[in-house]
Amino acid sequence: MAEFQVTVSTGSYPVIIESGCVSQIPARLKQLGGYSKVLFITDAEVERLYYNEIENRFRDIPLDAEIYTIPPGEKSKSIQNYSLLIKYLAERNFTRNDLIIAFGGGVVNDLAGLVAATYMRGIRWISVPTTLLAQADACIGGKTSVHFAGVKNLIGAFHQPSLVFIDPEFLKTLSKRDYLCGLSEIMKMAVLPGNKNFSIWDNKVREKMLAKDENTIAGVIEESCRFKAKVIERDEFDRAGRIVLNLGHTLGHALEAALGFEHITHGEAVCIGTLFISWVSNNNHDMPDEDLEKIRNLFMPVANAIPADNVNCAIDLEWNILHDFICHDKKRSNDVRWVYPVAIGKIKLEELESDDLHDAWIEFIKVFAGWCESGRDK
Ligand SMILES: NC(=O)c1ccc[n+]([C@@H]2O[C@H](COP(=O)([O-])OP(=O)(O)OC[C@H]3O[C@@H](n4cnc5c(N)ncnc54)[C@H](O)[C@@H]3O)[C@@H](O)[C@H]2O)c1
Repeated sequence: MAEFQVTVSTGSYPVIIESGCVSQIPARLKQLGGYSKVLFITDAEVERLYYNEIENRFRDIPLDAEIYTIPPGEKSKSIQNYSLLIKYLAERNFTRNDLIIAFGGGVVNDLAGLVAATYMRGIRWISVPTTLLAQADACIGGKTSVHFAGVKNLIGAFHQPSLVFIDPEFLKTLSKRDYLCGLSEIMKMAVLPGNKNFSIWDNKVREKMLAKDENTIAGVIEESCRFKAKVIERDEFDRAGRIVLNLGHTLGHALEAALGFEHITHGEAVCIGTLFISWVSNNNHDMPDEDLEKIRNLFMPVANAIPADNVNCAIDLEWNILHDFICHDKKRSNDVRWVYPVAIGKIKLEELESDDLHDAWIEFIKVFAGWCESGRDK
């Protein structure tokens, strides 16, 4: 079992990583104490798969526990679901002492976290992530959000969980496509400074991860979580260093929003976004060819799992449309600053000319379509 603390301005919280660790939740909740009601927030797919699990494992919790279920998928990170949840808590007289448990993927994590951040100016919440993306990334760092007016994560808050339980057992039921989305965020971290030795760079580890090898997964999740924790401990509120985690996200968020949060997932958008900005850097004679090749080898299994029609939806988008979404992205200050990889392990923040990016996008989508084509032939 791995357990470590994440220390932020509001205190410190444990992250527990172990197969079967959800069985510890009742005991840990008793230690936390002080509440009388608990609301599990989940999505319909996770509820279908794990309702009995919730019933059985949490029978011992001496409290009034209820489950609130949202539809699965990115569109559920909406202001409508947020309002309904707040209304639900108010109607059931949840108080500031009560608890929310986010039980699901990144969508549930972000929505439930925002509800916890804002209900009565903030109540405690616990993250029980059930996708690889949520286990290796979203459950750490307290960024919570919903989309609004078609813009990704436009409404949000920083609100750290009180406990995080990462149980890799849940990944057994995750689809290959959703599993690969989680790998995409891990791969993105591998490109960042200080991570040249990230285990995903090792071909054997990568093969095992791609094969969902149970003995490898927990270690890779732990590595990612520890890295993310280090970054957010230094910059909890995303004012400086945390921005590196945004590699691949400037274009990625625009792709997701421009496609109405359908057709490609967040992890896939990050994959295309990272490949694009790495290709731009190489095209500008910054990133060496061998580094682009390594990044391509890393990410292409994620891209190859996107159905061809969905890839086409993304690469058919015109740059002007994407540019509008990029300018609406919440990370815009006065100008758009791209997290620009000069090499593996070396990042700059760069304002790039829109006209140059327009031309680069037209070139890139041809190259990317070719990479996808050759991947599908194998
Ligand atoms: N807060 C953060 O720091 C942070 C970081 C990265 C990404 N995110 C956000 O995370 C979201 C994407 O998360 P995601 O990829 O987990 O998507 P998701 O939550 O939509 O889950 C993907 C799918 O997997 C299903 N699922 C969940 N657990 C399952 C299981 N154990 N077995 C079978 N199916 C399961 C869900 O029902 C859903 O259909 C995006 O909104 C993104 O912006 C947040």
